[in-house]
Order: sequence, then C-alpha cells, then structure tokens
Amino acid sequence: MTEKLRLGVNIDHVATIRNARGGLHPDPLRAARMAEAAGADGITAHLREDRRHIGDEDIVRLSREIALPLNLEMAATPEMLEIALRHRPHAACIVPEKREERTTEGGLDVAGGRATLERCVGALSGAGIRVSLFVEPEPAHLDIAHSLGAPVVELHTGSYCLAAPGKARGAELDRIRRAAAHAAEIGLECHAGHGLGFDTVGPVAAIRSIVELNIGHFLIGEAIFGGLESAIRQMRALMDNARADANGARSA
Ligand code: PXP
Repeated sequence: MTEKLRLGVNIDHVATIRNARGGLHPDPLRAARMAEAAGADGITAHLREDRRHIGDEDIVRLSREIALPLNLEMAATPEMLEIALRHRPHAACIVPEKREERTTEGGLDVAGGRATLERCVGALSGAGIRVSLFVEPEPAHLDIAHSLGAPVVELHTGSYCLAAPGKARGAELDRIRRAAAHAAEIGLECHAGHGLGFDTVGPVAAIRSIVELNIGHFLIGEAIFGGLESAIRQMRALMDNARADANGARSA
C-alpha cells in the first residue's frame, strides 16, 4: 500500500485554553484554518459529554465553515448520535468516554459494548458518515470491530507513546504493527492516534497499512513555543519522511 499518509489535526485543546477564561479566544476555527494551510488533511474534534473543550457551537461552525473533512470523535450515546446525524460530518470516530478521565484512556470495549456499537455504526454509516472504532491494537478487537460493520479502526497509540524508549516501547510498536497488518488482512482501513509527538510519530508513520494519524495535544502544546503552523509542518515532514523511507522511495 503506497497511499499518502493523512494527518488529522485534533483542535480540542485550543478550546481547552479558550474555556479556561470562558471567552472566544483562542478560536478553534482559526486553528482549523491554520492547520489546513500547514498541510493537514482533516480536522478532528471530540465533543465530550461534559463539553470540557469543544462545545456544540464549535461543531456547528466547523461543520459549516471549514473546507477540510471533519472527523467527529464521539461516545456511542443517543445524544452524540443525534448530534452527528444532524451535522453529518465526513467521519465519526467512536471512542469510550468516562467522565473522570483526563483523556481517552483506552480503546473501546468492543465485546462488552457490541449491541450499542452495532446500532451506532449502522446509524452513522446509513447517513453516509465514515465510521471508525477506536480500539486497542489487538487483532481480536479488530475482528469484533469488523463484525460490527465498521469500515475503519483507529489503533490506540497511547501505550506505545507512554512506554519507556527502548525495549518496552519496541514491544508496544510491535503490537501496533501486528494489529495494522491484521486490519489489512481483514479489509479494515487502519488509522492510529493518541499521544503522538515528534519523537514517537516516525515508527508509526512507517507502517504502510496505516493511512491516517490523528494528532492533537502535542501539536497544540508545541504551538506555544514555535507556532501552530510550524508544529504541524514539522509533524507532517516527520510523517512523510518516515513513510517515504518505508516505501523505499525517498531521494537521497
Ligand atoms: N484519536 C482519538 C480517538 C482520540 O480520542 C484522541 C484524543 O482526543 C486523539 C486521536 C488525539 O490524541 P492526542 O491529543 O493525544 O494527540
């Protein structure tokens, strides 16, 4: 597979900073436009049940006003399903959500949540929305995702990014590689994300069956020091170089 690796920029934490003061600045929509200028292929936003960062009005504005495809991260709840069906984003990524967590801590419980997920995947797909399920990089979880009718999985890269560099991180990377290979075998489009930064993105970008990475927190944090466009351009270059190396096509 030699498809271009897409970059979805998650703008949630622009809203986190805005909400710290309750005003309008910084505006996630402005960040989305900058992301496009810097080479992002899509914008990702997570409308959480507690609205801690992205709010309903952000989804209205992003849906109406950005040119890039919008990937709505959402829990499989009736409220979120209704919102997704109203706005019809290009894509929806179903994630687990716990009120107390700081961020999405793991992949979906695809076995335990089977009935709810199947209904949600069916309703979203029926509306023409590309559905992905956020899962741990375990082949068995991918098999279940496939059986639920999801065309796409997003592999959780959090454990890989948190693992100590060296043996532990290498083992986590191997799990991601095996899961990505399994996704290709069973015909699932494969994405990955969570926790990725400049030092962790390359090995994941080099996995050729992965076609999209979704990256947020690191980019928004890095933007404080060097600007958002620069952070995205640098991430884009690291991804593209790692993929070109993997394709054996990078010119010297
Ligand atoms: N993918 C999914 C499914 C997520 O829930 C998140 C976090 O909202 C991300 C990617 C991006 O993670 P990070 O902000 O750590 O880059």
